[in-house]
Parts: sequence; C-alpha cells; structure tokens
Amino acid sequence: MNNINKELTLPNGITIRNRIVKSAMSEALGDENNNPSQAHIDLFAQWGKGGAGILITGNTPVDRLHLEHAGNFVLDPDSDLEKVSALVEAGKVGGAKMLAQLSHAGRQTPERVNPNPTSISDVRLDLPGYGKPDPLTEEQIPGLIQKYINSAKIAQDVGFDGVEIHSAHGYLLSSSLSPRINTRTDRWGGEPLENRARLVLEVVRAVRAAVNPGFIVAVKLNTSDFQKGGFDHEESVRVAVMLEKEGVDFIEISGGNFEAPKAYTHAKKSGSTEIREAYFLEYAAAIKDALNIPLMVTGGFRSASVMNDAIETGKTDLIGIGRPFITEPGFAARLLSGEIERAPAIEESFPPGEDLPRGAVLGWFCTQIARVGKEGHADLEQSVVEGHQQYQTEIENITQRWVAANSQRA
Ligand SMILES: Cc1cc2nc3c(=O)[nH]c(=O)nc-3n(C[C@H](O)[C@H](O)[C@H](O)COP(=O)(O)O)c2cc1C
Repeated sequence: MNNINKELTLPNGITIRNRIVKSAMSEALGDENNNPSQAHIDLFAQWGKGGAGILITGNTPVDRLHLEHAGNFVLDPDSDLEKVSALVEAGKVGGAKMLAQLSHAGRQTPERVNPNPTSISDVRLDLPGYGKPDPLTEEQIPGLIQKYINSAKIAQDVGFDGVEIHSAHGYLLSSSLSPRINTRTDRWGGEPLENRARLVLEVVRAVRAAVNPGFIVAVKLNTSDFQKGGFDHEESVRVAVMLEKEGVDFIEISGGNFEAPKAYTHAKKSGSTEIREAYFLEYAAAIKDALNIPLMVTGGFRSASVMNDAIETGKTDLIGIGRPFITEPGFAARLLSGEIERAPAIEESFPPGEDLPRGAVLGWFCTQIARVGKEGHADLEQSVVEGHQQYQTEIENITQRWVAANSQRA
C-alpha cells in the first residue's frame, strides 16, 4: 500500500506526480511593494527540490489593501512579474505543480494595513489589531470578482499551474459563509445557504471561465468554523457539492479562523498522552462521500502509514502538509522513497498551547520559514517563545516599511 506515490489526474486532465501537497503557508517574505524578495524565491527553490506533487503559495492577496500580512506578495497589475516568474520557476524546478493561493483578508486584514477593511458585514474581529470593517456594497461586488479574475490571469501568464481560492480560516470568502459573521439580509447573506455561498461561487465561476481549461482551480474550505453559530460541518458538505458543480478541480479541507484557531493543532492537551494525526480526516469523510472530484485534507498528517491508509479507505485523495516543510524542506522526497516513515513533527515536543502566549507556535514557525528563505535552514534549537518574539519584531519591521511605502493607498 504505497498510495502516496501514486499519480492523480485532476478533472481538468492535469496529472499530479504524487499525493503530497505543500499546503499554503504565509511566507511573509515580500518587500514593501509586495513583490517576492530573493529569500522568498530561494525558499521556493528549496521546496521545488523537495519532492512534493503540488506547492501552494501562502496567502497571495488579490487586493493590496486587504493583505493577510504586510509581507505578502500580491498578484495584480502592479506586480513585478519578473520576480514572481522567478519564484514560480524556482518552485517548479523539480516537477511540482505550483498553485497561487488567492485571498482577500476581509475583516482579518491588520488594522495598520487598513483601519477599515471591506468585509461581508460590519461584524468586527474579536481580537486586538483589527479595525471596524465596512460591509461590501452591491456595487463593489463586480470589482471584487474582477480582482480575482485579474490575479488568476496573471498567475496563468507567469507560469503558475493553477490557483487555490482561499475560502477557509475566516478571510473574506470564508467569513461570507458564516451566519455569525455574515449578517446581511440581501441576496449575499442569510438563508438559504446559497445566499452565503453566493460570493465564493461567483468568484469561482468567474475565475474558471477566465482561465484555460488546463489551469487548475482549487478551493480551500473549512469543514467547520468551530464557532457557535458559525459555518458548520453540515453546511460545509453542501457548499463542497456546490463548488464541484462550478468545475473546481479539487477541494482542500481545513478548519477554524483567527478567533478559533483550529488549523494548527500541535501538542497533546495537558493530561493526555495522545496526539491525534490528521485531525480533520473524520469530518472530511462525509465531504468526500458527497463528491466526485478529488479531496485534499490538511492538518496533522505525519506518518506515511496514516497517509496511505487515508487514501486507501477513500477519505482523501491528496495529503496536505504544512509545518514539516519548514523544519525540513526536503522531507517529502524521503517520505515518498520510504527512507523515513514519519515527517518531522517538532511541534509535538512543544508545550501545550495553554502554557504559551497566544499564537506562539505559529509565530515560531513563521520565524523559521523566513530563516529557511534567508539562511537555508530552520533553527530547531530556538525556543518557542524566542521564535515568537522574533516574529513580532519582524512583523513590526515589515509593517513599518509597508506603511511608509503605501501611505497614500489607504
Ligand atoms: C507558518 C504558517 C503559515 C500558514 N499560512 C497559511 C496560509 O497562508 N494559508 C492557508 O490556507 N493556511 C496557512 N497555514 C495553515 C497550513 O496550510 C496548514 O493548514 C496547517 O499548518 C496544518 O497542517 P500541518 O499540521 O501539516 O502543519 C499556515 C500554517 C503555518 C504553520
């Protein structure tokens, strides 16, 4: 049973050489004009040699005023296409397919980037550092959809093999699905679910129609927001079916958002000895059953045996993996060849989240991702708290540079 090495042909006829996908991880290595830096390109060069079937970029905004991080690289008419092409070329050097994760951060746009970001409603993110959003107007919607089209076409022109439209983790399209956040009473909100799904469906339809048939169009979707009154599992299954009808090539399943961060479970809870692998897999089974197109599940996969079994039992087709690509950018080739049975899982040795500052584990990985780009490898000796603090300093530096360069934009 060596399923992870099997090819997979997507609905649009494109074949992926194996089942391991590097899921999106915000690299935050863009410059103040939101173009890739050399470190950014070098990071993808490492991943490009690493054996994965697909590499998905971190959040790649379609709109400069709705970044997830001041250091995102943007795909829009002002992008430096030479730098973006160099990044794509670096990622594809070993035969992986490259997808750009198109996003609009909505109400999760940092306040310093945009104090009043556009969101689906005026419901503010319940965390410090995020401003009061302005609800998207009916008149703004065609322009918003056009931004996704523009970014997808640029991605195609510079050599990406496809795009993944980010509709998970609480960003604009994901927040639109949530009854808790999307309080609209027009055709873009409320009941039936088709209203809350309208925005992501229209974006997907428009992008699919604008690109070549061989260009991959995927969507990242929450299996649930894991919030009271949020987008839930039953609705997720229904939206996945709606997305399939729009000609999506695969759907990636994750979960949670900034207020309920569930995507990066990392350590055993105090008092428990068990670390659960592939924590969204059981939820994904119902989505997989309802679909004919391939499914990708991301979050906690580490053992080849668990991955092979998940494919064998029909729970997923593609295995999304994040953090191991930071601690060891080339681990996938070794896992695929059978040289190792487990992907590196340094996070399992970290203290439980409740014993650390909020977001510390994520901050540590963000610091290491930058190190891989700048120095060629992560610093596995750095403590979680130190790595997190370094990341806070780095965010401040990038944000200051961005604000100075973009003061006229907001
Ligand atoms: C440093 C870091 C940055 C991330 N950035 C993104 C992102 O830009 N877009 C996204 O969809 N998920 C992002 N994620 C989530 C990952 O894609 C993935 O869902 C998560 O890490 C769980 O998979 P893993 O257990 O294999 O790491 C990020 C995760 C990490 C650790």
